Amino acid sequence: MPWNPSSSRASAGDVVQLVGLRHKHFIFTLAPDGELQTHRGVIQHNDLIGLSYGVQVFSHIGAPFFLLQPSLADLLNELPRNTQILYPKDIGFILVTMSVGPGQRVIEAGTGSGSMTIALAHAVGAEGRVLSYEQRQDFQNLARKNLTRVGLDARVDFKLRDIAEGLDETDADAFFLDVPNPYDYIEQARAALKPGGYFCALIPTVNQVQKVLLALRLQRFAFIEVAEMLLRYYKPEPTRFRPTDRMVAHTGFLVFARRIEQSVEPRSRELLEEIGAVSALDE
Ligand SMILES: C[S@@+](CC[C@H](N)C(=O)[O-])C[C@H]1O[C@@H](n2cnc3c(N)ncnc32)[C@H](O)[C@@H]1O
Repeated sequence: MPWNPSSSRASAGDVVQLVGLRHKHFIFTLAPDGELQTHRGVIQHNDLIGLSYGVQVFSHIGAPFFLLQPSLADLLNELPRNTQILYPKDIGFILVTMSVGPGQRVIEAGTGSGSMTIALAHAVGAEGRVLSYEQRQDFQNLARKNLTRVGLDARVDFKLRDIAEGLDETDADAFFLDVPNPYDYIEQARAALKPGGYFCALIPTVNQVQKVLLALRLQRFAFIEVAEMLLRYYKPEPTRFRPTDRMVAHTGFLVFARRIEQSVEPRSRELLEEIGAVSALDE
């Protein structure tokens, strides 16, 4: 299996990771008779096949490495890309907030390089489905390749389309939007979601967030939240414990909302106002 975090031994066909001195790491697929050339010597794949994960191995000139399964974060941080991608810091919170889990149907646009697609496909499991829309063939091709490499492509329907033309699905559990003009597609998101379904958009700039907030209200989304994930690493040295020198300061704002069905009864007004929804009674 290409990427199988539950296996304990390296097999031919596995996506594996070697981590050497100064955190230099290599992610690759084990192939019989293959070899990995590094600046610290050559490693034969045959010498790795059958070993337990977590052990140390050595190149032909004696340089040490650890043999590990790459984590999902490792895979996404190293993903071959031709677009901006989503990073683990944002992905983790998005998946939990939208409750993405086994068996669900989740829509995303655009596919880009497939970073979010990999995380969604992993989360929905073998019984779930990811419907992923992208308007550019070259981006879709790379995303498909990235999904295939980790063995998750069978869980994804790759759709080549400008979402302005509409989407095929209704009653989706969740909808994730990562395109430059998200405010133009809130109507499509509402039409594709089931009542109560989750919406999330990753939005780089403040002015775009404001436009999305307006569009969400007009489309009667509610429980709207805006968040930004700040992640700072620390040097794990007990005697010199301090933050690392560099950090990624900004990736994007996350806007969450849920599709709700409004009642037109006057007694619903107070709750609608409280959750910031535009009341159907006002129209
Ligand atoms: C920032 S990238 C998405 C990155 C992706 N979330 C990832 O994690 O790899 C934005 C993508 O949206 C696509 N896109 C932009 N407008 C679109 C539209 N109207 N319909 C479909 N795809 C669109 C772009 O071609 C681009 O690939």
